[in-house]
Amino acid sequence: MFGELIGAWILQEWTIAGKPKSFEYLELGPGRGTLAKDALNAIQTLLNKVDDDKKTMINVKFVEVSPVLSKKQAETLASNGSNISAEWYRSFETLPESEDISFSICNEFFDALPIHQFDFNENTRQWREVIVDTDPVDKEKLRFVTAPGDTPAAKALLPMFDNDDLEGKRRVEVSPSSLIHCQWLCERIMKQGGSSLIIDYGHEGQKEDTLRGFKNHKLVEILDNPGDIDITADVNFSHLRSVAEAIGVDASESITQDAFLKNMGIETRSI
Ligand SMILES: C[S@@+](CC[C@H](N)C(=O)[O-])C[C@H]1O[C@@H](n2cnc3c(N)ncnc32)[C@H](O)[C@@H]1O
Repeated sequence: MFGELIGAWILQEWTIAGKPKSFEYLELGPGRGTLAKDALNAIQTLLNKVDDDKKTMINVKFVEVSPVLSKKQAETLASNGSNISAEWYRSFETLPESEDISFSICNEFFDALPIHQFDFNENTRQWREVIVDTDPVDKEKLRFVTAPGDTPAAKALLPMFDNDDLEGKRRVEVSPSSLIHCQWLCERIMKQGGSSLIIDYGHEGQKEDTLRGFKNHKLVEILDNPGDIDITADVNFSHLRSVAEAIGVDASESITQDAFLKNMGIETRSI
């Protein structure tokens, strides 16, 4: 049902845009491709009802860093209709501009991007970057430490926070990679038209320490098995909104997933 409602959201945006004869379905980090499959099935079903000459083309573009998952996504999408084309890109930088209006989905993508953390030292009253070091007792082990002085990331990123953001906090996080991806999405919308739906674990700047490691759906120590666990951090939606506003893209307030799904009619919908 989740993917179907994402498909319904795209069709709603397509209708508001005047039902263009082709559009881009862009997804960042499509995982196994199941969300895309469900969303595209719903789009096809709805297009059959509302697209008068049934000729609307859907140009699917997946931005996926993992070759293994790209293959999986291709298998998941294997049985699509003749009005769908699909292309894969390893990173957003390699995706060419298009004439199509762009509707994009990022579901649990931004929380997978790297972050920097900074700690406030009560004694020195200074913010310092949290970095990874080898444990002096057991050189095989890693540990988090606070940088002894300013790091390039501290110099570049801490000025993003104003005094109100930092007031009373012990730790703050920022994800430059998220800002860059968001900038790229917004610039694409400015050039091609369209909209983007970002769904993720997140907050509006009030949370302090959200970095977590998961293995087999269980919370684990982040540094115990580097390369072997999923690392995630909650998305700071206020940072993404600042990027969108700077570029001139309207960014709505974040709402809960529950509210979004109810707004899309989850309680009544049957496609
Ligand atoms: C948690 S999964 C997302 C799940 C998926 N969207 C879904 O709805 O099931 C994160 C996805 O983002 C991809 N990814 C992570 N970093 C990426 C990057 N820098 N560029 C492109 N894809 C990335 C991962 O390989 C994976 O497909």
